[in-house]
Amino acid sequence: MTLLKLDIYAVRNIHKETIVPASGINFFFGKNASGKSAVIEAIYILGRARSFRSSTIKPVINFDQNQLLVSAQTLQANGSTVHLGIKLDSKSFCYRINQQSTQKRSDLAYSLPLQIIHPKSYELLDAGPQLRREFLDWGVFNDDEKFLPAWRNFKKALQQRNSLLKAKHPEHINVWDKELVYYGTMVNSHRQLYLQKFKPVFIDIINQFLEINDIEIKLLAGWDTDKDFQQVLSEDLEKDLRYGFTHSGPHRADFQLIISNRLAKDYVSRGQLKLFVMSLKLAQVQLLTNEHGNMGCLLIDDFAAELDVINRAKLLIYLSEMDCQAFITAADISDFGDIRHIKNYKMFHVEHGNIKQV
Ligand SMILES: Nc1ncnc2c1ncn2[C@@H]1O[C@H](COP(=O)(O)OP(=O)(O)OP(=O)(O)O)[C@@H](O)[C@H]1O
Ligand SMILES: [Mg+2]
Repeated sequence: MTLLKLDIYAVRNIHKETIVPASGINFFFGKNASGKSAVIEAIYILGRARSFRSSTIKPVINFDQNQLLVSAQTLQANGSTVHLGIKLDSKSFCYRINQQSTQKRSDLAYSLPLQIIHPKSYELLDAGPQLRREFLDWGVFNDDEKFLPAWRNFKKALQQRNSLLKAKHPEHINVWDKELVYYGTMVNSHRQLYLQKFKPVFIDIINQFLEINDIEIKLLAGWDTDKDFQQVLSEDLEKDLRYGFTHSGPHRADFQLIISNRLAKDYVSRGQLKLFVMSLKLAQVQLLTNEHGNMGCLLIDDFAAELDVINRAKLLIYLSEMDCQAFITAADISDFGDIRHIKNYKMFHVEHGNIKQV
C-alpha cells in the first residue's frame, strides 16, 4: 500500500492541504507548533480512525470547524488504486472506501496498515499489557484474516460469560465456556504462529542497531498453559463469580522481551529501550512486506528527539532499502542528517499549518 495523494481538512491547525507524497521517504520539517505532528496524526486517523495523542477526536478537529476529513488515493499491493476517506465529528464517523460507506474500522485498517513511532511509543515495553496486546494483534490481524472473526467471537462469548458472572448465574456458564475455549484457543494459536514468524525478522533488525545475542520473545497466553483453558476456567469459577469477571484467557495475554534470561525492560538503558521498540515496530512492517507483499506505512514523529545521530542514519538506510512508505518529522532539516544517498524521497516544509514541497 502506498499513499499516492493525501487530502487533509481541519486537522489541528491544518485547514486544507493536499500532499502528493513520494512512495519512499517523506520528510516534514518546521518550527515547533507548525503542524508536523498534525500531518502524522491525519494519516494515522485515516488508518486507525482515532488519534495517537488524544483519547477523543474533539481536540483534533480544527477550532473553527465541527468535523475533520482525511482522504487518500492509495495504491494497494494487488496493483489496484483505492480511494479511502474518513469524516469525523465529535459524535459520529463515516468511512468510505471507493465511495462506498462502511461502518467497519477493520476495512480501513486492512486498506491502510500503518505503524507509528512517536515519543510515547516507548511505553510499549514499560506500560501495562494492553498496549503490547494491541501491538501483537495488529500484526496477527494483518497476517491472517482468520484472526479477526476468532477474536470477535471470543469477545462476544466473554461478554456473555461476564454478564452471567455479574448476575451470579453460574448454571448457564457451561455453554459460554465451550465457546470461550474454542475461540480462545484459536486466538492463542494465531498469536503463537505469528510470533514464530516475527522473531527472526525482529532479531535481524535489532542486530543492525545493537549487538545483542540470546533474545527471546515469550508469549504469555493469559492463562497457565500447563493446563488446558477449560480446566483453568473451572478452577477459577469461584473467583470469577466473586469478582464478576473472567480472570483468565487471551484477553489477558501479554508478551515479554527476554535477553539472556532477563526481562529486557528491567535493565536495558533508555536508549536501548527505544531501539527495541523501534525495531519491534519496523519488524511488523517488514514482516507484512515479506509475507504479503503489502507494504505497510510507517509514521515517525519527532525523529531527532528519539534517536542519536548514528542510529538516525542507520534507520534511514534501513528505511530506504525497505519497500515501505515512510513519513518522518523533525524540527530542523539538518536533523535528518545526510540524505543524499536516499533515492526515493520528498522534502516538505510545514509552517502555520501550510505544507509546501521543497
Ligand atoms: N483543534 C485545533 N485547532 C487549531 N489548532 C490546533 C488545534 N489543536 C492544536 N492546535 C495547534 O496546532 C499547532 C500544531 O500542532 P502540532 O502538534 O502539529 O505542532 P508540531 O509542528 O508537531 O510541533 P512540535 O515541533 O512542537 O512537535 C499548534 O500550535 C497547536 O496549538
Ligand atoms: Mg510535534
